[in-house]
Amino acid sequence: MSDTVELRIFMLKDVLVVGGRAREHALQWKLSGDTEVGRVYCAPGNGGTQHNVPISETDIEGLARFAKENNLFTVVGPELPIAMGIANHFWAEGLGICAPTREAARLETSKAWCKEFLAGRGIPTPQFKVFDDPEMAKEHVRSVDYKVVVKADGLCEGKGVIVCDSAAEAEEAIERLMVRREFGDAGAKVVIEKRLYGEERSFMAISDGTRIEAFASSRDYKKLQDNDEGPNTGGMGAYSPAPAGPETERQMYDIAWKIVTGMRDEGFPFVGFIYVGFMIVGGKPQVLEINSRLGDPETETLVRRMDSPLFPYIEAAAHSSLDETVRRRGAIRWKNWSAVTVVLASKGYPDRDYARGEAVTFRPMDGMAYIFHAGTKKVGGGIVTDGGRNFAVTALGRDLEYAAYNAYEAVESIRYPSKILRRDIARNVTPAEALQSKA
Ligand code: GLY
Repeated sequence: MSDTVELRIFMLKDVLVVGGRAREHALQWKLSGDTEVGRVYCAPGNGGTQHNVPISETDIEGLARFAKENNLFTVVGPELPIAMGIANHFWAEGLGICAPTREAARLETSKAWCKEFLAGRGIPTPQFKVFDDPEMAKEHVRSVDYKVVVKADGLCEGKGVIVCDSAAEAEEAIERLMVRREFGDAGAKVVIEKRLYGEERSFMAISDGTRIEAFASSRDYKKLQDNDEGPNTGGMGAYSPAPAGPETERQMYDIAWKIVTGMRDEGFPFVGFIYVGFMIVGGKPQVLEINSRLGDPETETLVRRMDSPLFPYIEAAAHSSLDETVRRRGAIRWKNWSAVTVVLASKGYPDRDYARGEAVTFRPMDGMAYIFHAGTKKVGGGIVTDGGRNFAVTALGRDLEYAAYNAYEAVESIRYPSKILRRDIARNVTPAEALQSKA
């Protein structure tokens, strides 16, 4: 073996991706292709991920032990381990990790805290009130002359946001969250927000606590059914690019930067991936939500378009050296292609009464699409369903229309009895110019 080869192998960094959804499969897929990265483990992973480690995403000590024994750098996908303080624990143990601390993650783990933070810094966000008494909350929704969105304060996997068409629906939402406690203590407190009408955009970036490096534009589809009908889900599809016009995009960037520097000033530097969900009304972005992690399924869409390695930016965020890395390597580059993700779920999702263990068959498909697994597992030599969302089929195309065509072709190659999907992902896309006037 030559000296050069030996040196390269010595420098490769092995990585642990925590989680087992399609976003984590996408992160593993992307990181495995980075030249600086060696083996990428996934804990616990799913039926599509490689090098799975049977440690739950909430077993923080078990994950830390595995990372230490194998000298791994850790990247965290889902919100739960972040909310539990995985970053606090890993930092204390001297282990490399890209995830915000429990305190910084309050932007996601308490919607009430987040709204107060935004309002306190003059960051545009819909008018709101916070309640911990259901009767007072109901009185409020009866008294206002606008439609509302009722949001559980705590974590609910994207399902604790109830968009209401009438005061009666809002009262029922309060009953579900605060009285029947469908999401447990996450609904002990609610935020009641004025409902806005516009177009949603997902802004994602990586932050080292001081600076942010933005990802390409994208948007997701949160409702279960076509034409944005049915209940909210974790996300049924996404596409990128999703331009909103240079001025609106600049405003979104400025707001995300204000959030990160605001957190630093509060004494909770935000290190890791940040997701700001915007509603654009008349060209002006307003913050609907902040997540302390990457979006799912937006990540599946974005990794297919990312033309730079991801790991150097992740490592730089953890080492507070994003500026230097961007100076040395340049900003993250994006392929001049479009990408569309269509999520396949099991009938019954987003409730919990869906079938599990259904055998999945795959037919060959063309190379423009890639199947990221979510709720699946390997049994014998095959794949069975094992969750509400099962796959995120992501395809490239020279424009959105082709990418959507390729994704929907690929969707047909996956079969299982309970398969459901939306048929309108990336169809009837609003052009950026139209967003400027849509109110
Ligand atoms: N796609 C929205 C989310 O990840 O919360």
